[in-house]
Amino acid sequence: MQINLLIRLGMALLVLAPSVFGETTGVPEETRAQRDQRMRWWREARFGLFVHWGLYSGLAGTWDGKPVGTQGGMEWIQQRVKADTETYARAAIPKFQPKPGFAREWARLARQAGCRYLVFTSKHHEGFALHDSRVSDFDAGSVLHRDLVREIVNACRAEGLKVGFYHSVIDWHHDQYEYARSQQLSHPLKGQPYPNGARDHSRYVDFLHAQVNELVSNYGRVDILWWDYSAQDFQGDAAWRAFALMRMVRAKQPKIIMNNRLFRNPEAGWSGMGTAGFLPRLDPKYGDFITPEQHIPATGMPGVDWETCMTMNTTWGFNEHDHAWKSDAALLRNLIDIASKGGNYLLNIGPRADGSVPPESVKALDAIGAWMKKNGEAIYATQASPFEKLDWGRCTQKPRSRQTTRLYLHVFERPAGGQLHLPGLVNQPRKAFLLDGRTKLAVTRAADGVNIQLPAALPDPIASVVVLDIQGSPMIAATSPAAFRTP
Ligand code: GLC
Repeated sequence: MQINLLIRLGMALLVLAPSVFGETTGVPEETRAQRDQRMRWWREARFGLFVHWGLYSGLAGTWDGKPVGTQGGMEWIQQRVKADTETYARAAIPKFQPKPGFAREWARLARQAGCRYLVFTSKHHEGFALHDSRVSDFDAGSVLHRDLVREIVNACRAEGLKVGFYHSVIDWHHDQYEYARSQQLSHPLKGQPYPNGARDHSRYVDFLHAQVNELVSNYGRVDILWWDYSAQDFQGDAAWRAFALMRMVRAKQPKIIMNNRLFRNPEAGWSGMGTAGFLPRLDPKYGDFITPEQHIPATGMPGVDWETCMTMNTTWGFNEHDHAWKSDAALLRNLIDIASKGGNYLLNIGPRADGSVPPESVKALDAIGAWMKKNGEAIYATQASPFEKLDWGRCTQKPRSRQTTRLYLHVFERPAGGQLHLPGLVNQPRKAFLLDGRTKLAVTRAADGVNIQLPAALPDPIASVVVLDIQGSPMIAATSPAAFRTP
């Protein structure tokens, strides 16, 4: 009888195995079509706003009355000055005074710029959480009696933006975080013994999971989780119990999209520790998209979802000493370049401690927004260019009907003579016009492609968009210098 029962129990366990014990990774059980459906809004959005904001924002690149530097990520100021967390908090907390309504300003700015989503730092490496956390007193709830995550999420929703949490798994505050376990991950006290005696990293990981659980449970729908970051010598399950973390997040937020930064291995899209060390590959068990930082891949990455994140000057968190602002033209052309390669652009702002956005960033976003209002059709829901290279600018494309594809030709430089040449384009052209103003343009077939005659003056000095409708899907002759490639 007992043996019988044991056998039955064993059988039951075997049956349950795939659902209960088989889930050893974070990969959602979904078909390719379901994944495409889940990724759809993100792929169509193309443009998001990144926001780095925390205690470092108030320090603004100055420590003890002295500038810390003019270049590089100033959200790392605690690490740069090697301050322990108490000293850092004592200096930074009094300066962190968000004004009422700051989040609405961000969200409005993002929407007007044409961003479709906003990703902000729910916690950066410093460890200060912007929500009201029950498992920490180093959080906005304890310090300011405000839940800044709720304020930001509500503001984003009110502007129709999707919302994402950047969450640092690295933590320079937590007293059980075993920083000695990684050579590659920085910590302000690196090389020094733990000030509080022996640490138990698994207790930190419990805390990390508990805090993320709050974030994915208490704020309605969360569209993106943007993890940051891992090292080759400290990553994944060993460092963060990553797969369990991903499973917990997906259980609460089945539609969520996550990046690849709980890991640092080639299968997750990484070849090394530097910012250029990304690879055009991603096994979905490690996340949904790869994250080239401050880099635009030279060519597209067919079959891989990717997002370039980039600063407007050289820092993510506000630094009053960093004046190396990129021009409006550079930022807008980056967005176009990225779309032409099939990726997303996550462009960063680093607001001040009161939440106000530096005027240089406002100006740049307004300029992009003005362009997007007229030309957004050439960015949203487009696919990568069929051309390898175009001397005068970039191309994006969209299927228009079963018979027609619409090419968007982003003209950066008007070619001498005003003739826009599409090398090797085999398809029959149907019509061409300027997107802004709808002026019709003459289009002719040539032996080696298609030519479009531009007017003497183009509508936009940064990028004027010419629409070209062609018959069928684009085909580029193999002999052309712009060799054919699949989008
Ligand atoms: C890096 C930096 C960080 C920044 C992030 C954005 O990992 O540590 O400060 O938040 O990249 O991609």
